[in-house]
Order: sequence, then structure tokens, then C-alpha cells
Amino acid sequence: DMESLQALVPLHGVLLSKDVVDNWETIESFQARSDDVVIATYPKAGTTWASEIIDMIYADGDHEKCRRDYIFNRVPYLEFRVPGMPTGIDQLNGTPSPRLVKTHLPIHLMPNSFWEKKAKVIYVARNAKDVAVSYFFFHQNVSALPDPGPWDKFLDNYMKGNVGYGSWYDHVKGWWEKRHDYKILYLFYEDMKEEPKREIRKMLDFLGKNMSDDALNKIVYHTSFDFMKTNDKVNYKSLPKEVIDQSTIPFMRKGIAGDWKNHFTVTQNEEFDGDYKRKMSGTDLHFRTVI
Ligand code: PPS
Repeated sequence: DMESLQALVPLHGVLLSKDVVDNWETIESFQARSDDVVIATYPKAGTTWASEIIDMIYADGDHEKCRRDYIFNRVPYLEFRVPGMPTGIDQLNGTPSPRLVKTHLPIHLMPNSFWEKKAKVIYVARNAKDVAVSYFFFHQNVSALPDPGPWDKFLDNYMKGNVGYGSWYDHVKGWWEKRHDYKILYLFYEDMKEEPKREIRKMLDFLGKNMSDDALNKIVYHTSFDFMKTNDKVNYKSLPKEVIDQSTIPFMRKGIAGDWKNHFTVTQNEEFDGDYKRKMSGTDLHFRTVI
């Protein structure tokens, strides 16, 4: 029923969908492989974008290869569990190596096996304000997420961490603080927007891959916002309206840095900045909110 579908329940202080929490033992005991590559993000930080880039890297820049399947099958979503659909774990167990794995889990909830196997993780962080706006619209489209209510109320919940995957602040800081303990490449959405080629080169280095400039240019071209927006293998338009309704707001909504300026009021912005300062004090992690 809709009630259980929309329920978010806390797990170690982080709100997750009830279906995910009910399945937690399976997720916690997931068996990683040493050549797994994880794409970890707080929701709406550029997961789909980074996923398409990394799949294109593994396809040596051959875009046709990346058309072989939908992004959610090429890069299974680790903790995904929606009744009537294959779970992320089932998908991953049936995927030959090297596997690409999507997750939104905060670092303290990652299955230990990823660290034991020394798997590589590419973490993408995006500024808190644009994530809030993007997440708000996403809640309106996705039936499995609770009704966000009006923007002001959603923003308040977001600042308090009362949303799926919990606090943005804890998420970005948690991964940042551990980035030298494991094989983690920590990237920023705003840097990818500013100079995609430079950021893709960082991914190539991290993954130990060489690539011709020609192949690299193809990746940049095929992973631009404008290209991905019309690519049905990545824009989620293949999913039924009952799962994600894109009739008014597309998944590929704006794809820019700084859209928050169109949604935050002056008061909201002041309150947000004050709260942000407190929550982000004592970290050397810095974001740009516009580029
Ligand atoms: S999800 O549901 O958490 O997996 O969503 P995620 O893919 O992380 O984030 C969706 C936002 O990323 C934007 N997007 C892009 N921006 C720039 N370039 C490319 N290629 C790209 N692809 C997706 C997408 O438009 C969402 O952001 P907003 O601000 O809502 O437009």
C-alpha cells in the first residue's frame, strides 16, 4: 500500500525507505569484489552523470556500447528495493566483473566488504543549495518518496536531515573525512560543470586507465547535459509514470550550478547560510554555490 511505500524510517540515525531498512541484513552482508567501482553520492549530486561517464570510460569511449542497456541496469543501485522489482543486490550478484555500483549510502553505512576488498569509490558532492532544490522537485516526481509539501517546509526538513539518506552535511563530511583511509576519489559537481575534461582525467588516473584524446572528447560530448537529456538510456523516461512522473518536471531538469538563486528567498538564504556555517565549521571541505 502507499503508506508502506512512502515510509522513511531511521537506521543508525539516517532516514531510509522502510523497504531498504527491512532488507538491511542482505545489504550489510553484500559481497563486494576488488574490481568493483562504486559511484557514491548524496541524492541529486550528479549520480547519473558520473555513472554515464564511468560506463563510457569502461567502454573506451564507445557510445554504442553504452546504449546496450538503461543506466539503472548498467550501474545497479546497491540498496535499491522496491516491491515487484529486482533488488539492487540481485542485479549486482548477476553482473559480471568489473561491476559499477551506485549508492547513496553515507560512509558509515557502507557494507564492510567494499573496504575489505579495497574497492574503488568515486564520490561526487554537489553544493547543498542546488541539491535541496533538485531533491525537492524529485520528491514531486517520484511516487515512492513522501510528499515534500511546500518548498519552505521541505527546505526546513532538508536542513534538519529529515529526508531520505539523512543530513547532506553529515554525508559530504563523512565521505570527505575518510577519503584518505580508503581508495576514494572525491569530486565536485561544480568542477565537472566547469571543466568536464579535467575531471574525467582525474577519474581515468584514479581508475588506472589510459585513453586517447579522441575517446576522451567523445565522453565529454555524450555526457553533456544536453545530450543526456534526450538520451532515453539515461533520462529515466523508460520508467512508467507510476514510478516517476516527468510530465511537468523532467529528471534531467536544469543541470546547472546556481539554480538555487531562483528558489531561495532572501530570508531562506540568510537562515540557510547561518545554519550552514555552524554545521560545516571545523571542516576544510569547501563548496562553490555558483560557477
Ligand atoms: S539521483 O536520483 O539521486 O540519482 O539523481 P542524480 O543523478 O544524482 O542528480 C540529478 C541531477 O543531476 C543533473 N544532471 C546533470 N547535470 C549536468 N550534466 C549532466 N550530464 C547531468 N545529468 C544529470 C540533473 O539535471 C539533476 O539536477 P537538477 O538540478 O535537478 O537539474
